[in-house]
Amino acid sequence: MKKQIIMLPGDGVGKEIMEGARAVLNAVAGEHHHEFIFHEHAIGGSAIDRYGTPLPEETVKACSSADAVLLGAVGGPKWDHVEASKRPERGLLGIRKSLGLFANLRPVTGFSSLVHSSPLKTEIVDGCDILIVRELTGGLYFGKPSERREGGRTVIDTLKYTREEMERIVDKGFESAKMRRGKLTSVDKANVLESSRMWREVVDEKARDHPEVEVEHLLVDAAAMKLITNPRQFDVIVTENLFGDILSDEASVLTGSLGMLPSASIRTDGVGLYEPVHGSAPDIAGQDIANPLGMILSAAMMLRHSFGMEDEADEIERAVSDTLEGGYHTADLDIEGGRIVGTREMVEKVIENLSTKSISNAICSS
Ligand code: NAD
Ligand code: IPM
Ligand code: MN
Repeated sequence: MKKQIIMLPGDGVGKEIMEGARAVLNAVAGEHHHEFIFHEHAIGGSAIDRYGTPLPEETVKACSSADAVLLGAVGGPKWDHVEASKRPERGLLGIRKSLGLFANLRPVTGFSSLVHSSPLKTEIVDGCDILIVRELTGGLYFGKPSERREGGRTVIDTLKYTREEMERIVDKGFESAKMRRGKLTSVDKANVLESSRMWREVVDEKARDHPEVEVEHLLVDAAAMKLITNPRQFDVIVTENLFGDILSDEASVLTGSLGMLPSASIRTDGVGLYEPVHGSAPDIAGQDIANPLGMILSAAMMLRHSFGMEDEADEIERAVSDTLEGGYHTADLDIEGGRIVGTREMVEKVIENLSTKSISNAICSS
């Protein structure tokens, strides 16, 4: 298959991990006779530096007509003091909104070789497998432009959701639960927020159409606690934009590192954008030490969700698992008896494991 893929490396470690994803995808393309054509475009702080805006029009245009988009990360201290409407993060929010990517799927899957890498007890994290379905284009992130009034002493951020915006993400939550273990936990703050009370009504209404799904409501503060005391109670978590952002970084602790988590930002039909959950990690950028696996696993999600390439996606995930199993890991992870490698070497090891697999397949089938 021939596919046009837009790469938006962005800032900080975004550039380093994007190179890793490109190398892995090229290896997969070679083995499966696909043609992946990569086009790089600017977003975030590097787009501000080059074009004076975090989201150039031509980036949006290129993404809209591509088969899929990969994004590294945006932001960094260099742009922390630019005007709010021109911050690097606005580029990311802008591309999500322009492409209508209302659903952000964030799988939190523990690799067995990493159970000891989590600061949590092994018996708590072992076997955890959660999917966070985060609403991505509404809520506090997209209210009326934030304001400061009364000489800068009062601030206003608005949280707005329409019922339709809630319905489509809750539908995604039920659909995901049905494809997994059949449990849906809806997370809100219905004891305080009107938006959460409407969210709960929507979930209860939809629950009647899906009697086979076990539905549970949790308030976000309790959910944050249960996520690290009893993560195995969760299958799919569906929640609004800000709660999903916070809970997913928290959930990454179950896997051993924030650098492990991939995500897919999708809509019902049309182009999808695939991005790791972590940010531009300015504290480690440019040192070839960032964990590239969240980005590589995001590329696997792209193959599965946008291109229907199940086998190829499985192969990447297996190669990542085999690499960790072999003891190789970046410095953010802790594997007893393992070897710490840099970003590039980690990518090389994953690629070696891809080809080991295909060579052993070839031997088995001959
Ligand atoms: P961050 O996710 O960049 O980093 C948090 C911590 O995790 C840091 O200690 C970092 O070194 C570590 N970390 C993150 N990714 C890693 C990886 N791949 N390998 C090893 N360690 C990793 O969050 P932050 O420091 O709060 O934010 C930095 C910048 O990134 C900010 O400008 C923020 O707005 C932006 N950000 C962007 C995205 C995105 O583009 N999707 C996501 C989150 C934050
Ligand atoms: C994420 C990030 C973004 C978000 C920021 C950078 C706007 O934290 O993708 O998780 O909050 O959505
Ligand atoms: Mn985040």
